[in-house]
Amino acid sequence: MSDRTPLIVGNWKMHRDHLEAIQLLQRVAYHLTEEDTDGQTVVVCPPFTALRSLQTLIASDRLPIGLGAQDCHPDAEGAHTGDVSVPMLARLDVGHVIVGHSERRLHHAEDDALVARKARAAVAAGLTPIVCVGEGEAARESGRAEEVVLAQVRGSLADVEPADPAGLVIAYEPVWAIGTGRTATPDDAQQMAAAIRGTVAERYGAATAEGVRLLYGGSVKPANIRSLMALADVDGVLVGGASLSAEDFALIIGHGRAV
Ligand code: 13P
Repeated sequence: MSDRTPLIVGNWKMHRDHLEAIQLLQRVAYHLTEEDTDGQTVVVCPPFTALRSLQTLIASDRLPIGLGAQDCHPDAEGAHTGDVSVPMLARLDVGHVIVGHSERRLHHAEDDALVARKARAAVAAGLTPIVCVGEGEAARESGRAEEVVLAQVRGSLADVEPADPAGLVIAYEPVWAIGTGRTATPDDAQQMAAAIRGTVAERYGAATAEGVRLLYGGSVKPANIRSLMALADVDGVLVGGASLSAEDFALIIGHGRAV
């Protein structure tokens, strides 16, 4: 058993306006028992437009749920139309920020160098970056999954120096498993997570690698959460579609803890 605190993250992507977001988070909280969040960290990442509303809700109702953002700009401020900086997120009590999600790598041409700059900005402001990596279907089928993912890990962590290992999270999300209902087999997920931890150890040393949390993402559901959380090197999950259902997300949180 490791000392790593399990981390369950809901990525709402471009779903829910701020009023719907309030309703969804209230319903998640309604379905959770006190034990469900005991000993693990739960974070939701709504669209930017809902952050302020959820910050207020979490604070006023003292919900045991943290706030995360789905992206950030690497600079603190500047002429960057449409972007949001890490200090702005920090002012809204955002504690985690997803960087390098495959949808941003694919649709916004983000490369490892940019992802590393975003992760550095997050660490510098005291936020925990959730650095996403994952191979596409072609790489998996040609047996190059590990090579591709480990190169992404190295590139996306360039010059990223977290003050403490708990301040860095890496999410392995095979692109072919996102929103498809297909998940990596537990064996494949564990093998990749162990390989990622090995690469983190090369980069930061074994002690730090032991403390860095690794998440699995890609069609996580109440039905498969137990088998994923049982894996030695998987410390949590990054949940897309199922986090938009209060009932399913609460079940994922509860089941994950019970492992
Ligand atoms: P799904 O859970 O909908 O497959 O999405 C995974 C994901 O991309 C989370 O970041």
